[in-house]
Amino acid sequence: MKSVQIEDLLKKLSLQDKARQITQINADFIKADVKAEATGVSDGFYLTKDDVFGCGSVLNFGDARDAEYIRKKYLEVSENKVPLVMMQDVIHGYRTIFPVPLALACSFDADLVEECCKMSAVEASLNGVDVTFSPMINLSRDARWGRVMEGYGEDPYLNGLFGRAAVRGYRAGGLASCVKHYAAYGAAEAGKDYNTTDLSEHNLREYYLRAFEECLKENPELIMTSFNLLNGVPVNADSHLLVDILRKEWNYNGVVISDYAAVVEMIKHGYAENKKECARVAALNAVDMEMMSSAYIEFLPELVEEGAVPASVVDEMAKRVLELKQKLNLFENPDNATSVQKAEEACLCPEHREIALRSAEKSFVLLENSGVLPLKEWQKIALVGPLAAEKNILGAWACAGRADECVSVKEGVEKLLGAKVLYSKGCSVDLLSDDESIIADAVKTAKKAEVVVACVGEHSYHSGESASRADICLPKVQVKLLKELKKAGKPVVAVIFGGRPQVLTEVKEIAAAILYVWQPGTEGGSAIAETLYGKVCPEGKLAMSFPRSVGQCPVYYNHFSSGRPKSKDELHGQAYTCGYIDELNSPLYPFGYGLSYTRFEYGDIKLSSAVMERGGKICVSVPLKNCGSRAGGEVVQLYIRDKFASCARPVRELKAFRKVTLAAGEQKTVVFEITEDDLKFYGANGKFAAEAGEFEVMAGGDSRCAVAGVFRLL
Ligand code: GLC
Repeated sequence: MKSVQIEDLLKKLSLQDKARQITQINADFIKADVKAEATGVSDGFYLTKDDVFGCGSVLNFGDARDAEYIRKKYLEVSENKVPLVMMQDVIHGYRTIFPVPLALACSFDADLVEECCKMSAVEASLNGVDVTFSPMINLSRDARWGRVMEGYGEDPYLNGLFGRAAVRGYRAGGLASCVKHYAAYGAAEAGKDYNTTDLSEHNLREYYLRAFEECLKENPELIMTSFNLLNGVPVNADSHLLVDILRKEWNYNGVVISDYAAVVEMIKHGYAENKKECARVAALNAVDMEMMSSAYIEFLPELVEEGAVPASVVDEMAKRVLELKQKLNLFENPDNATSVQKAEEACLCPEHREIALRSAEKSFVLLENSGVLPLKEWQKIALVGPLAAEKNILGAWACAGRADECVSVKEGVEKLLGAKVLYSKGCSVDLLSDDESIIADAVKTAKKAEVVVACVGEHSYHSGESASRADICLPKVQVKLLKELKKAGKPVVAVIFGGRPQVLTEVKEIAAAILYVWQPGTEGGSAIAETLYGKVCPEGKLAMSFPRSVGQCPVYYNHFSSGRPKSKDELHGQAYTCGYIDELNSPLYPFGYGLSYTRFEYGDIKLSSAVMERGGKICVSVPLKNCGSRAGGEVVQLYIRDKFASCARPVRELKAFRKVTLAAGEQKTVVFEITEDDLKFYGANGKFAAEAGEFEVMAGGDSRCAVAGVFRLL
């Protein structure tokens, strides 16, 4: 449909039709012809049959068959026949599930992120999905928050880099993207989901909005607003965020969609008196589409008639939704006819399973290894733990993924060995379980083996939305299991599942090796087996710090110094310095950290100059050698520190990285270029610019790498 036809269509739509076009409801209402009863999330909302068959979009439906039925039924009944735009949470795969995004970030591989998202878009678009509510790029510094699994960790640069790769991948696979959650949702106080956030303009700009600015460079079709209060105002009422910054400063003209019932939640926030006020506020802030609540349907026409909301505002909102449908060719292909057979053939095809396997392998992070890994195939192992035979290792937000299509660790190991292994569950996976009754059986099993592989940690449903934890240690009964296994006198390899960093301080004292596998997805068990037996070499690096104790949360690498920094991270002897009397400051495992089965050594790092002219560049040469006995991959990381500026700057910031694979004995010099653009930040005057001064340069294999040189920007 041409643009002129959009204008014509707009003219034909009544005000009530437009209010329906900018409303998104669950697809069930169309399938079941129901009058929507009160929903669990928000105040009840009641839709007439005309509302249901006049809405602009649906979410949460099944496969290609389901999508086809919904579109056809809608077009049969709808009066104005404007095709639906159908959206779904395709977060880390559609049916073939790859690792949760936080895990994928640990691959430090933007091409891999793009490849995974393209693969999931192919499966999703063949199953009737037009838009995915992804990528989620919320900066996440507090591991108590359940949704850290859904983003790309604690660094703004990585969230922007991988968010952009995801948008490109989705588009290449035939999906439109919805970048979320705008904004600062990850700054929820105490890590409690949906909780309040309070940030200075500087903190907002410099850390929480940077990835959104980056992602807009890929022209995502939608942006989703978040649930949270920001500085006392619900995001959907925040004109500075939604109008001044997003629409005017960044010139975003795509569709802004609310999160699920977030528009009417402004009542419970204690901000809007009623749904009519919710509709007025959200509309005046250009929240184009209301997800799963009906303030617009119920009150926008009245607000326009009263002059509280200009008719032109509603026209602009509806026009952006119609233009989205035009961009997705939905007018030409209203039923988005897809072949059910093609859809079935694409899902879980060998190529997609290979991507799921490879991405899992590259997301694992080897945290400890006494040398017990890789295992030898002739060794007799005992496979124990509540997650050893678990099939649901998909993680939260697993879309159409199915546990019965996953490869468990037990299945993966037995397939690789071609033989059954000793197995015992050992304990429950429930976080609060205190049942120790089956630990003895696991110990008995362990005594029959040379090495114990204990699969512990979080189940898929222990992270994700509405899954924040106040205690992120491994559950007590699992620690007890590990201790008893260790007493059996055999080396214990801990394979730890989780959707977030967990406190592994006790585990570190017990285990001979720790392989962190996150929530690895459909091919997780195969990937774990391949890694345990050294068919592949782990190369993941942490995209989020692992605390020593939950009391450290939030702990992150790009923190400020304070006026009284400790000279050394130690418990005692430095009174009146920034720290605790009962805990160290450093995380147990820092951002950027990860071991390999080989060993890398860094040579003398050289800077090309001690001075950077405006518009100039500094080259940083980083010699790297594989000193081990096997090939392996290393992520060479480049950090800088701006020593003094109009706003205090973090003790270090990741500015670039390079993934390097070296054969045993091979050496290579990695060269980075630092330009003035790399030094820009939102200064005290709110301007994004580089300020003259001294900069330290660090490069190495994690965020503890030492200062290698200094230069001055003139
Ligand atoms: C949820 C999430 C959001 C998701 C939406 C639709 O509440 O916050 O990320 O895309 O609803 O499922």
